[in-house]
Amino acid sequence: MSAEATAPGKMILFGEHSVVYRGPAILLAVDRRASVVASKRDDKRVYIDSEDLGFSGYFDNGEYTAVTGKVWRGRNMAALEVATRKVMAHLGVDGGVNLKVRSMIPIAVGLGSSAAVCVATTAAVGELFDGNLSKEKIAELSFEGEKVIHGNPSGADNSIATYGGIMRYERGVGLKRLKLDKPLPFVIGNTRKKRSTRNMVEGVKELKDRNPEVVDPIIYTMAGLSQTGLDALLRRDTGKLGDLMNINHGLLTSIGVSTQELDDLVYAARREGALGAKLTGAGGGGCMIALAEEEHLGMVEKGIRAARGYSMRVNLTDEGVTTRRL
Ligand code: MEV
Repeated sequence: MSAEATAPGKMILFGEHSVVYRGPAILLAVDRRASVVASKRDDKRVYIDSEDLGFSGYFDNGEYTAVTGKVWRGRNMAALEVATRKVMAHLGVDGGVNLKVRSMIPIAVGLGSSAAVCVATTAAVGELFDGNLSKEKIAELSFEGEKVIHGNPSGADNSIATYGGIMRYERGVGLKRLKLDKPLPFVIGNTRKKRSTRNMVEGVKELKDRNPEVVDPIIYTMAGLSQTGLDALLRRDTGKLGDLMNINHGLLTSIGVSTQELDDLVYAARREGALGAKLTGAGGGGCMIALAEEEHLGMVEKGIRAARGYSMRVNLTDEGVTTRRL
Protein backbone atom coordinates (compact mmCIF):
# COMPACT_ATOMS: atom_id res chain seq x y z
CA MET A 1 0.00 0.00 0.00
CA SER A 2 1.25 3.48 -0.78
CA ALA A 3 0.01 7.05 -0.76
CA GLU A 4 0.96 10.07 -2.84
CA ALA A 5 0.83 13.74 -1.94
CA THR A 6 1.67 16.75 -4.08
CA ALA A 7 2.25 20.39 -3.13
CA PRO A 8 2.92 23.56 -5.14
CA GLY A 9 5.91 25.87 -5.34
CA LYS A 10 5.53 29.59 -4.76
CA MET A 11 6.64 33.14 -5.51
CA ILE A 12 6.88 35.80 -2.85
CA LEU A 13 5.39 38.99 -4.26
CA PHE A 14 6.24 41.12 -1.22
CA GLY A 15 7.67 40.61 2.24
CA GLU A 16 10.59 38.17 2.00
CA HIS A 17 13.01 38.69 4.88
CA SER A 18 10.77 41.26 6.61
CA VAL A 19 8.33 38.39 7.32
CA VAL A 20 11.03 36.75 9.45
CA TYR A 21 10.80 39.75 11.83
CA ARG A 22 7.48 41.49 11.43
CA GLY A 23 4.84 42.31 8.90
CA PRO A 24 3.06 40.30 6.27
CA ALA A 25 4.33 38.45 3.24
CA ILE A 26 2.20 38.16 0.12
CA LEU A 27 2.67 34.75 -1.48
CA LEU A 28 1.42 33.24 -4.70
CA ALA A 29 1.33 29.48 -5.31
CA VAL A 30 2.50 28.47 -8.80
CA ASP A 31 1.61 25.52 -10.98
CA ARG A 32 4.91 23.64 -10.53
CA ARG A 33 4.52 20.85 -8.01
CA ALA A 34 6.52 18.39 -5.92
CA SER A 35 5.24 14.87 -5.40
CA VAL A 36 6.08 12.34 -2.68
CA VAL A 37 4.98 8.70 -2.73
CA ALA A 38 5.18 7.04 0.69
CA SER A 39 5.08 3.29 1.29
CA LYS A 40 5.64 1.13 4.36
CA ARG A 41 8.84 -0.82 5.02
CA ASP A 42 9.45 -3.92 7.09
CA ASP A 43 12.35 -2.32 8.97
CA LYS A 44 12.48 1.04 10.77
CA ARG A 45 14.38 2.99 8.15
CA VAL A 46 13.24 6.14 6.42
CA TYR A 47 14.51 5.61 2.89
CA ILE A 48 14.47 8.67 0.62
CA ASP A 49 14.85 8.32 -3.11
CA SER A 50 14.95 11.42 -5.25
CA GLU A 51 16.24 11.32 -8.79
CA ASP A 52 15.26 14.95 -9.39
CA LEU A 53 17.09 16.29 -6.37
CA GLY A 54 20.05 14.06 -7.20
CA PHE A 55 20.27 11.87 -4.12
CA SER A 56 19.02 8.81 -2.32
CA GLY A 57 19.84 7.43 1.09
CA TYR A 58 18.32 6.31 4.34
CA PHE A 59 18.08 7.13 8.02
CA ASP A 60 18.49 4.33 10.52
CA ASN A 61 18.26 5.32 14.18
CA GLY A 62 18.82 8.95 13.17
CA GLU A 63 22.07 8.07 11.27
CA TYR A 64 22.10 8.98 7.59
CA THR A 65 23.71 6.73 4.98
CA ALA A 66 24.02 8.10 1.44
CA VAL A 67 23.28 5.61 -1.32
CA THR A 68 23.73 8.00 -4.26
CA GLY A 69 24.30 11.72 -4.57
CA LYS A 70 25.93 14.51 -2.71
CA VAL A 71 26.35 14.61 1.03
CA TRP A 72 25.62 18.38 1.14
CA ARG A 73 21.93 17.65 0.59
CA GLY A 74 21.98 16.01 4.02
CA ARG A 75 20.05 18.77 5.74
CA ASN A 76 17.21 18.47 3.24
CA MET A 77 17.16 14.74 3.78
CA ALA A 78 17.04 15.21 7.55
CA ALA A 79 14.06 17.56 7.12
CA LEU A 80 12.10 14.79 5.44
CA GLU A 81 13.06 12.32 8.12
CA VAL A 82 12.00 14.77 10.85
CA ALA A 83 8.67 15.47 9.10
CA THR A 84 8.07 11.72 8.71
CA ARG A 85 8.87 10.96 12.36
CA LYS A 86 6.73 13.87 13.57
CA VAL A 87 3.74 12.54 11.65
CA MET A 88 4.29 9.02 12.97
CA ALA A 89 4.67 10.27 16.55
CA HIS A 90 1.52 12.37 16.16
CA LEU A 91 -0.39 9.32 14.94
CA GLY A 92 1.21 7.00 17.49
CA VAL A 93 2.56 4.59 14.86
CA ASP A 94 5.96 2.99 14.47
CA GLY A 95 7.91 1.45 11.58
CA GLY A 96 9.80 2.45 8.47
CA VAL A 97 8.84 4.34 5.33
CA ASN A 98 10.06 4.70 1.74
CA LEU A 99 9.73 8.18 0.29
CA LYS A 100 9.94 8.64 -3.45
CA VAL A 101 10.39 12.35 -4.15
CA ARG A 102 9.83 13.97 -7.55
CA SER A 103 9.74 17.70 -8.21
CA MET A 104 8.99 20.07 -11.08
CA ILE A 105 10.09 22.99 -8.91
CA PRO A 106 13.69 24.10 -9.52
CA ILE A 107 15.60 23.56 -6.26
CA ALA A 108 17.34 26.11 -4.02
CA VAL A 109 16.34 29.12 -6.13
CA GLY A 110 13.61 30.69 -3.99
CA LEU A 111 10.57 28.94 -5.45
CA GLY A 112 9.70 26.96 -2.34
CA SER A 113 10.87 23.51 -3.45
CA SER A 114 12.01 22.41 0.02
CA ALA A 115 8.71 23.47 1.61
CA ALA A 116 6.70 21.75 -1.13
CA VAL A 117 8.67 18.53 -0.63
CA CYS A 118 8.33 18.75 3.16
CA VAL A 119 4.59 19.39 2.98
CA ALA A 120 4.08 16.59 0.45
CA THR A 121 6.10 14.22 2.68
CA THR A 122 4.02 15.10 5.74
CA ALA A 123 0.75 14.63 3.86
CA ALA A 124 1.82 11.39 2.13
CA VAL A 125 2.99 9.78 5.38
CA GLY A 126 -0.22 10.96 7.08
CA GLU A 127 -2.30 9.37 4.33
CA LEU A 128 -0.22 6.16 4.43
CA PHE A 129 -1.10 5.67 8.11
CA ASP A 130 -4.76 6.74 7.70
CA GLY A 131 -4.03 9.87 9.68
CA ASN A 132 -6.69 12.05 8.11
CA LEU A 133 -4.50 15.07 8.79
CA SER A 134 -6.09 18.50 8.49
CA LYS A 135 -4.30 21.17 6.44
CA GLU A 136 -3.55 22.97 9.66
CA LYS A 137 -1.82 19.86 11.05
CA ILE A 138 0.10 19.30 7.79
CA ALA A 139 1.38 22.90 7.90
CA GLU A 140 2.32 22.53 11.57
CA LEU A 141 4.16 19.20 11.24
CA SER A 142 5.94 20.14 8.01
CA PHE A 143 7.19 23.30 9.71
CA GLU A 144 9.27 21.06 11.99
CA GLY A 145 11.05 19.76 8.88
CA GLU A 146 11.47 23.27 7.47
CA LYS A 147 13.24 24.33 10.66
CA VAL A 148 15.86 21.64 10.11
CA ILE A 149 16.66 23.10 6.68
CA HIS A 150 16.30 26.81 7.26
CA GLY A 151 17.07 27.37 10.94
CA ASN A 152 14.65 30.23 11.65
CA PRO A 153 12.02 30.14 8.90
CA SER A 154 8.97 32.38 9.11
CA GLY A 155 6.50 29.60 8.30
CA ALA A 156 5.43 31.35 5.10
CA ASP A 157 6.72 28.73 2.65
CA ASN A 158 5.13 25.67 4.27
CA SER A 159 1.85 27.59 4.63
CA ILE A 160 1.57 28.48 0.94
CA ALA A 161 2.66 24.94 -0.08
CA THR A 162 -0.13 23.56 2.13
CA TYR A 163 -2.98 25.89 1.21
CA GLY A 164 -2.05 27.11 -2.31
CA GLY A 165 -3.69 30.17 -3.84
CA ILE A 166 -2.82 33.71 -2.88
CA MET A 167 -2.01 34.34 0.71
CA ARG A 168 -1.22 37.01 3.23
CA TYR A 169 0.98 35.40 5.87
CA GLU A 170 2.13 37.02 9.07
CA ARG A 171 4.26 35.21 11.59
CA GLY A 172 2.50 34.76 14.92
CA VAL A 173 -0.70 36.25 13.47
CA GLY A 174 -1.73 33.69 10.88
CA LEU A 175 -2.71 33.46 7.27
CA LYS A 176 -5.48 34.75 5.11
CA ARG A 177 -6.33 33.30 1.72
CA LEU A 178 -7.29 35.80 -0.97
CA LYS A 179 -9.03 35.65 -4.32
CA LEU A 180 -8.19 37.42 -7.59
CA ASP A 181 -10.86 37.75 -10.26
CA LYS A 182 -8.39 37.41 -13.10
CA PRO A 183 -4.87 35.94 -13.19
CA LEU A 184 -1.93 38.32 -13.26
CA PRO A 185 0.82 37.85 -15.86
CA PHE A 186 4.18 37.14 -14.19
CA VAL A 187 7.45 35.95 -15.62
CA ILE A 188 10.07 34.25 -13.45
CA GLY A 189 13.74 34.76 -14.27
CA ASN A 190 16.13 32.21 -12.80
CA THR A 191 19.82 33.08 -12.38
CA ARG A 192 20.38 29.32 -11.89
CA LYS A 193 22.66 30.19 -9.01
CA LYS A 194 21.72 28.02 -6.02
CA ARG A 195 21.93 29.45 -2.54
CA SER A 196 20.90 28.65 0.99
CA THR A 197 17.92 30.42 2.54
CA ARG A 198 19.44 29.70 5.96
CA ASN A 199 22.65 31.62 5.06
CA MET A 200 20.75 34.53 3.56
CA VAL A 201 18.49 34.89 6.61
CA GLU A 202 21.53 34.68 8.90
CA GLY A 203 23.34 37.32 6.81
CA VAL A 204 20.42 39.74 7.20
CA LYS A 205 20.34 39.08 10.94
CA GLU A 206 24.05 39.83 11.29
CA LEU A 207 23.69 43.07 9.29
CA LYS A 208 20.70 44.02 11.43
CA ASP A 209 22.57 43.23 14.66
CA ARG A 210 25.51 45.39 13.57
CA ASN A 211 23.30 48.27 12.32
CA PRO A 212 19.91 48.11 14.03
CA GLU A 213 19.32 51.86 13.76
CA VAL A 214 19.41 51.61 9.94
CA VAL A 215 18.20 48.07 9.19
CA ASP A 216 15.20 48.05 11.57
CA PRO A 217 13.49 50.94 9.75
CA ILE A 218 14.19 49.26 6.37
CA ILE A 219 12.51 46.06 7.60
CA TYR A 220 9.65 48.16 8.95
CA THR A 221 9.28 49.91 5.57
CA MET A 222 9.26 46.55 3.75
CA ALA A 223 6.51 45.33 6.07
CA GLY A 224 4.39 48.43 5.34
CA LEU A 225 5.09 48.11 1.61
CA SER A 226 3.84 44.55 1.73
CA GLN A 227 0.48 45.65 3.14
CA THR A 228 0.20 48.48 0.57
CA GLY A 229 1.11 45.93 -2.12
CA LEU A 230 -1.67 43.64 -1.00
CA ASP A 231 -4.20 46.48 -1.35
CA ALA A 232 -2.88 47.21 -4.86
CA LEU A 233 -3.07 43.51 -5.74
CA LEU A 234 -6.69 43.25 -4.63
CA ARG A 235 -7.58 46.40 -6.60
CA ARG A 236 -5.58 45.01 -9.53
CA ASP A 237 -3.71 48.29 -9.73
CA THR A 238 -0.85 46.94 -11.84
CA GLY A 239 0.91 50.32 -12.17
CA LYS A 240 1.15 50.66 -8.40
CA LEU A 241 2.09 46.99 -8.00
CA GLY A 242 4.97 47.49 -10.43
CA ASP A 243 6.21 50.58 -8.54
CA LEU A 244 6.09 48.71 -5.25
CA MET A 245 7.94 45.70 -6.69
CA ASN A 246 10.70 48.03 -7.90
CA ILE A 247 10.93 49.78 -4.53
CA ASN A 248 10.92 46.42 -2.72
CA HIS A 249 13.84 45.25 -4.86
CA GLY A 250 15.77 48.37 -3.88
CA LEU A 251 15.12 47.75 -0.19
CA LEU A 252 16.14 44.10 -0.50
CA THR A 253 19.32 45.21 -2.29
CA SER A 254 20.06 47.59 0.58
CA ILE A 255 20.08 44.70 3.07
CA GLY A 256 22.51 42.77 0.91
CA VAL A 257 20.41 40.01 -0.59
CA SER A 258 20.54 40.93 -4.28
CA THR A 259 23.42 39.98 -6.57
CA GLN A 260 24.84 41.23 -9.85
CA GLU A 261 23.07 38.36 -11.67
CA LEU A 262 19.71 39.14 -10.08
CA ASP A 263 20.10 42.87 -10.79
CA ASP A 264 20.96 42.08 -14.43
CA LEU A 265 17.69 40.13 -14.84
CA VAL A 266 15.65 42.75 -12.96
CA TYR A 267 17.00 45.63 -15.09
CA ALA A 268 16.65 43.62 -18.31
CA ALA A 269 12.97 42.92 -17.50
CA ARG A 270 12.29 46.59 -16.74
CA ARG A 271 14.08 47.70 -19.91
CA GLU A 272 11.81 45.41 -21.95
CA GLY A 273 8.65 46.92 -20.55
CA ALA A 274 7.96 45.14 -17.24
CA LEU A 275 5.77 47.20 -14.94
CA GLY A 276 7.89 46.03 -12.04
CA ALA A 277 10.59 43.49 -11.26
CA LYS A 278 12.19 42.26 -8.06
CA LEU A 279 14.06 39.32 -6.61
CA THR A 280 11.83 36.73 -4.97
CA GLY A 281 12.60 34.52 -1.99
CA ALA A 282 15.79 34.73 0.01
CA GLY A 283 17.99 36.23 -2.76
CA GLY A 284 21.75 35.66 -3.04
CA GLY A 285 21.05 34.05 -6.43
CA GLY A 286 17.89 32.17 -7.29
CA CYS A 287 14.99 33.91 -8.97
CA MET A 288 13.43 37.25 -9.76
CA ILE A 289 9.87 37.93 -10.88
CA ALA A 290 8.51 40.48 -13.33
CA LEU A 291 4.98 41.76 -13.79
CA ALA A 292 4.13 42.88 -17.31
CA GLU A 293 1.17 43.60 -19.53
CA GLU A 294 0.27 40.55 -21.62
CA GLU A 295 1.67 42.14 -24.81
CA HIS A 296 5.08 42.76 -23.21
CA LEU A 297 5.59 39.31 -21.69
CA GLY A 298 7.44 37.94 -24.74
CA MET A 299 9.91 40.86 -24.77
CA VAL A 300 10.45 40.60 -21.01
CA GLU A 301 11.25 36.91 -21.37
CA LYS A 302 13.64 37.68 -24.23
CA GLY A 303 15.34 40.34 -22.13
CA ILE A 304 15.79 37.91 -19.24
CA ARG A 305 17.30 35.31 -21.55
CA ALA A 306 19.60 37.88 -23.17
CA ALA A 307 20.84 38.70 -19.65
CA ARG A 308 21.74 35.00 -19.26
CA GLY A 309 18.73 34.06 -17.16
CA TYR A 310 16.37 31.16 -17.64
CA SER A 311 12.81 32.43 -18.06
CA MET A 312 9.59 30.64 -17.12
CA ARG A 313 6.01 31.70 -17.43
CA VAL A 314 3.99 30.28 -14.58
CA ASN A 315 0.32 30.27 -13.74
CA LEU A 316 -1.01 30.83 -10.27
CA THR A 317 -2.78 27.87 -8.73
CA ASP A 318 -5.45 27.60 -6.10
CA GLU A 319 -4.58 23.98 -5.41
CA GLY A 320 -2.65 23.39 -2.22
CA VAL A 321 -1.55 19.99 -0.93
CA THR A 322 -3.39 17.00 -2.45
CA THR A 323 -3.32 13.36 -1.27
CA ARG A 324 -4.45 10.08 -2.78
CA ARG A 325 -4.12 6.35 -2.16
CA LEU A 326 -2.26 4.43 -4.84
C1 MEV B 1 12.02 32.27 2.00
O1 MEV B 1 11.25 31.82 0.90
C2 MEV B 1 11.73 33.67 2.36
C3 MEV B 1 12.41 34.29 3.58
O2 MEV B 1 11.55 35.35 3.98
C4 MEV B 1 12.64 33.31 4.72
C5 MEV B 1 11.38 32.90 5.45
O3 MEV B 1 10.31 33.48 5.26
O4 MEV B 1 11.51 31.96 6.25
C6 MEV B 1 13.75 34.90 3.18
